[in-house]
Amino acid sequence: MKSKEWLNRQKNDPFVIKAQNKGYLSRASFKLLEIEKKFHFIRKSNNIIEFGSSPGGWCQVILECNINAKITAIDLSEMKLKHGNIQFIKKDFKTIDYKSLNKKYDLILSDIAPNTTGHKSTDHLRISTYIHDIIDLLNLIAYKNTNFVIKIWKGTEEKLIIEKLKSQFQKVTYFKPNASRKDSSEIFIVAQDFII
Ligand SMILES: C[S@@+](CC[C@H](N)C(=O)[O-])C[C@H]1O[C@@H](n2cnc3c(N)ncnc32)[C@H](O)[C@@H]1O
Repeated sequence: MKSKEWLNRQKNDPFVIKAQNKGYLSRASFKLLEIEKKFHFIRKSNNIIEFGSSPGGWCQVILECNINAKITAIDLSEMKLKHGNIQFIKKDFKTIDYKSLNKKYDLILSDIAPNTTGHKSTDHLRISTYIHDIIDLLNLIAYKNTNFVIKIWKGTEEKLIIEKLKSQFQKVTYFKPNASRKDSSEIFIVAQDFII
């Protein structure tokens, strides 16, 4: 998308305007708010990890819904949000030694997004690689009954991802928040109750 088109879209986007009015760091906050409204994961989670956390719009929502939540936030870019309950790790998530972190989480969130090329199937394959990598970490970071919410851009790898998740969770569904642009292939996969 050309930068002028992008600026126009931002200027007229009701969720961008709402985010500015409410003091959210990104319009993405509304997606997590909708997910929470439907599934109530945050309020019952003490320890939460977020992959792709910057600038911090989702962390704002987590702390708004559960001020006692302890968050491990991971991103390549700096977080704008600083808070005593957030342990921020500024790294490529693939380079972190999760064994030495020695932590498990009640809720695993991923809004991670690789840089886009504009070529739909390439972008889909890139985000799918990230998702497979995160799924491979589940045995280290998930408890029995942990919930997992992950963003994907729809495409061919999805079937395999859903199959993998179905073998590891009690229930797997899709959720498309209203704040997710209608013309975007973005959708969230919601996997409930990790089976050890
Ligand atoms: C859509 S943004 C996340 C927005 C965030 N959830 C919020 O509400 O503020 C996607 C993020 O994924 C991060 N990201 C992309 N590749 C990454 C990687 N390999 N390791 C860690 N973070 C990565 C980007 O830096 C970017 O900040």
